Amino acid sequence: MYRTHTCGELNKNNAGKEVTLCGWVQRSRNLGGMTFIDLRDRYGITQLVFDMEGDPGLCNEARELGREYVISATGKVRERSNKNPNIPTGEIEMEVSALSVLNPSELPPFTIEDDTDGGEELRMKYRYIDLRREPLKKNLLLRHKMASEVRSYLNTIDFIEVETPVLIKSTPEGARDFVVPSRMSPGEFYALPQSPQMFKQLLMVSGYDRYYQIVKCFRDEDLRADRQPEFTQVDCEMSFVEQDDVLKTFEGLAKHLFIKVKGTDFNGPFPRISYREAVESYGTDKPDIRFGMRIKEITGSVKGGGFAIFDDASYTGGICVRGGASFTRKQIDLLTSFVRKPQLGAKGMIYARFNEDGTFKSSVDKFFSGEQISGWMRQFDAREGDLLLILSGEKGQTLKALCELRLKVGEDLGMRKEGEFAPLWVVDFPLLEWDDETERFYAMHHPFTSPKAEDLPLLDKDPGAVRANAYDLVINGVEIGGGSVRIHNSAMQKKMFEVLGFSEKDAHDQFGFFMDAFRYGAPPHGGVAFGFDRWVALFGGSESIRDYIAFPKNNAGRDVMINTPSPVSGNQLKELGLNLDE
Ligand code: AMO
Repeated sequence: MYRTHTCGELNKNNAGKEVTLCGWVQRSRNLGGMTFIDLRDRYGITQLVFDMEGDPGLCNEARELGREYVISATGKVRERSNKNPNIPTGEIEMEVSALSVLNPSELPPFTIEDDTDGGEELRMKYRYIDLRREPLKKNLLLRHKMASEVRSYLNTIDFIEVETPVLIKSTPEGARDFVVPSRMSPGEFYALPQSPQMFKQLLMVSGYDRYYQIVKCFRDEDLRADRQPEFTQVDCEMSFVEQDDVLKTFEGLAKHLFIKVKGTDFNGPFPRISYREAVESYGTDKPDIRFGMRIKEITGSVKGGGFAIFDDASYTGGICVRGGASFTRKQIDLLTSFVRKPQLGAKGMIYARFNEDGTFKSSVDKFFSGEQISGWMRQFDAREGDLLLILSGEKGQTLKALCELRLKVGEDLGMRKEGEFAPLWVVDFPLLEWDDETERFYAMHHPFTSPKAEDLPLLDKDPGAVRANAYDLVINGVEIGGGSVRIHNSAMQKKMFEVLGFSEKDAHDQFGFFMDAFRYGAPPHGGVAFGFDRWVALFGGSESIRDYIAFPKNNAGRDVMINTPSPVSGNQLKELGLNLDE
């Protein structure tokens, strides 16, 4: 046995005991005739003491140890005179009597401290060293805890974990596929799953009525802080369910995680709002509802007033900032520049103050009477001391800018509180979305999502107006998961492919096996998939999922540690029957 204890577990009660610890040399200090070493392992840090007077040979050996050497030390535990209340082992130290170097280490390229001196790129290259740092260790432990809580909750309610293949055929989730050439079938390719969508539905056809899997998914899309090319889903599916059953079941999972991991108990169901309401009131289908400040449309009351910006716009709307009348001119100017950024594209911003003395002051006083402005204030339920911020333009773009403005003001005023969680379900998503460029409809979720029964008559007349039995779980403005009740009838599935512009042959080539399966007794079913990395990052208090993945890719999709993607040899290409175009 290399060790009797870990570096995180000894305390006063172990005083007098002889123990052996193993770990990495975190730091070493020489003070007078004593040498102190902080020995670190996964569990914590224990202070080792070497006394020049007691054993000069051993003390000199200790002084030779460099940072990150792997050592084993044996000695007696003793209570410290100078206790460190900041660490669990701070009451004791080990008086070392024997030391052995298990492996020396080169000087690490950056310090293994909470605030390291290593830049992002360097730390990614030496990820195995970076993972020794406390913040990353905490993140991986959080991830582990959440994965085990997911499993423990779902296992107790009869879900079984089933693995599905990774070398498959394209699954239409809307991103580009990663493809893998086949040696045995030259010129043919596998696709890596964007999700196990079709397999989990087939498992329902097979009768495994409650399935889940913590599973890797692969999507070749542009990367952002909350997107990785390979990421993990908690993927779930159930049979004999309607939308409400699915939402209740997985709300149970979400509440379990909140209690077990964050100690947060939610009374009552999560709010549910329609996609339409989300977009009209928050400018997005993933609203942060930790604070109100809902967007209100006032197009009707401002159009025709002689103010060209309002008159020419198809949409005018705004937000009411409680207490915002005290914003300075400079603050308002900064917000105006914010919405004018090219990404948001607003032409300008109109403000109207409801002063504490009951008077109004706005940037359009020349065009509107106090009476009219008072009318706007009523529409926003504004009170003395409030401020209206108003944008005009094309509806979609203006709502997007209002969404960002609302989030910015909420952030500036400290309304997006860290540690506070506001989950909700967004429901009734449109089934289809129109793409101007290719002039066709695409499935908003994926082509297996069922339309709402009451909207079926619209499928031919006005496909864009059909709503789906689809839902997202959103927490603090982050899309944590999404799912739907599926089409389980092959005629309906065929119709859906038709609406999506697949020829019968294309649909058959790509999804023939799937449509065939539905002819052999497919039960009604539905499910959801949660973005596990996002959920962990949200609980960890960060927007970047990379810090919660042991070996992530950088923003260019590269793993700089193993240096991939990388070329393959000419022989490999030949075997695969591939010819690279210069
Ligand atoms: P969807 O495509 O909405 O649904 O994905 C489910 C959830 O996965 C997360 N997610 C990602 N996380 C990190 N990096 C990415 N590139 C990435 N892409 C998606 C999001 C998202 O909400 N098969 C359906 C689910 C179903 O219908 O049951 C699906 O994959 O949090």
